[in-house]
Amino acid sequence: MDRWLKKDSQYIWHPYTQMKDSRKQAPILIERAKGIKLYDNQGNSYYDTISSWWCNVHGHNHPRINEAIRSQVNRLEHVLFAGFTHKPAITLAEKLIAITPSSLRKVFFSDNGSTAVEVALKMSFQYWQNIGRRKKTKFLSLDYAYHGDTVGAMSVSGVDLFNKVFSPLFFPSLKTPSPYCYRCPMKKDKSSCGIECIKPLEKILKAKNNEIAALILEPLVMAAGGMIIYPKKYLKKAHFLARKYNVHLILDEVATGFGRTGKMFACEHAGVRPDFMCVSKGITSGYLPLGVTLTTNKVYRVFYADYEQKKTFYHGHTYTANPISCAAACASLELFKKENTLEKVNNLLPFFYEKLEDFRDLKFVGDLRYIGMIGAIELVKNKKTKQAFSLKERIGLKVYREGLKKGLILRPLGSIVYFFLPLCLKKHQLQKVLKKTFLIIKNL
Ligand SMILES: Cc1ncc(COP(=O)(O)O)c(C=O)c1O
Repeated sequence: MDRWLKKDSQYIWHPYTQMKDSRKQAPILIERAKGIKLYDNQGNSYYDTISSWWCNVHGHNHPRINEAIRSQVNRLEHVLFAGFTHKPAITLAEKLIAITPSSLRKVFFSDNGSTAVEVALKMSFQYWQNIGRRKKTKFLSLDYAYHGDTVGAMSVSGVDLFNKVFSPLFFPSLKTPSPYCYRCPMKKDKSSCGIECIKPLEKILKAKNNEIAALILEPLVMAAGGMIIYPKKYLKKAHFLARKYNVHLILDEVATGFGRTGKMFACEHAGVRPDFMCVSKGITSGYLPLGVTLTTNKVYRVFYADYEQKKTFYHGHTYTANPISCAAACASLELFKKENTLEKVNNLLPFFYEKLEDFRDLKFVGDLRYIGMIGAIELVKNKKTKQAFSLKERIGLKVYREGLKKGLILRPLGSIVYFFLPLCLKKHQLQKVLKKTFLIIKNL
């Protein structure tokens, strides 16, 4: 065994990994990356079809972002963010306010997606406390939601495989069925759908709005729950209901933000203006950790008071608004303009969708869903009955291994094979990725 991998197995406990499996199949030692390809120490290359955990945007090792980081490192690497500030954070805040929904006027920095969510939950909670609505302490979320791995974020998530064991630690939260069209909770299909799945959500809001601080949603794509892509009408209606029942709307754009759905933010598809928006992952184009929670002037004003009134928001992380991360994020946002990223993505989409449609007739393909550069293929044992593969069958693992043999990083969520493609992808690369994946699924 390679001496580095020996040391890896001696010292490292990897995330989301059964380390016993990792003994049988050692992790791949990546040494460098360029564009959408990763290169290992054995001379193999892999297409990064999942954007390195959904965060890479403009490709690996981009000269412009590299340069922005180098230049920032030479000036200021870090400073505490209470009582001090810096230009990269101010520039980034201004840029974010300019591109997010007009309701959002204030930027609160943290350092990853989970903390961006924690901040939104805590701000919403304290908002109601600060104005004396002390019973509004609960959160409403979807049953396939995923908002992160910290305890607060897990409390409003629903993916049992990840969270169940920790459930005694959670604060109580209310759950409503997800708009999972392929496995519709209301037993409808495309032709009969009238977004009936919003009804359970309305029922809870109607009955319990006095106890609910906020509704939290991943707009249009429930990513870790299985790349469940749902109609924009659902999001619009949920927004309307949150307003009607005086409950905050938190949109978690951690996965969907920064062009992934073909628009800068997924909520733009539905014209929704949330009270809070959480972003991370793609914000630095996958270079450095950074989390941001944006909110409204209305929320901000409720915390703005004389110190003795005890309305301060006591939350912050050591690496909050790290200047190098902020500089990388500013460079990434500039690249969107300079390289016409969204325009190029939208030109590529018809080809992407057309080729994805070819998968539909394959034996194990139950559902196909796509939006922007995200495409998901739900594999089922039986197309007619939609019978799912059992966990034991480890169909996703088969796809993962076959992918690696073909120079692709595919990392299915259970039996859902998906693409979460870097936005810099070229047509010929996309063609290769799809062709290889097609063969893998065809030969299962
Ligand atoms: C929608 C969503 N929210 C929050 C998170 C958590 O982000 P992080 O892993 O940076 O804590 C994720 C991560 O996958 C996510 O997909």
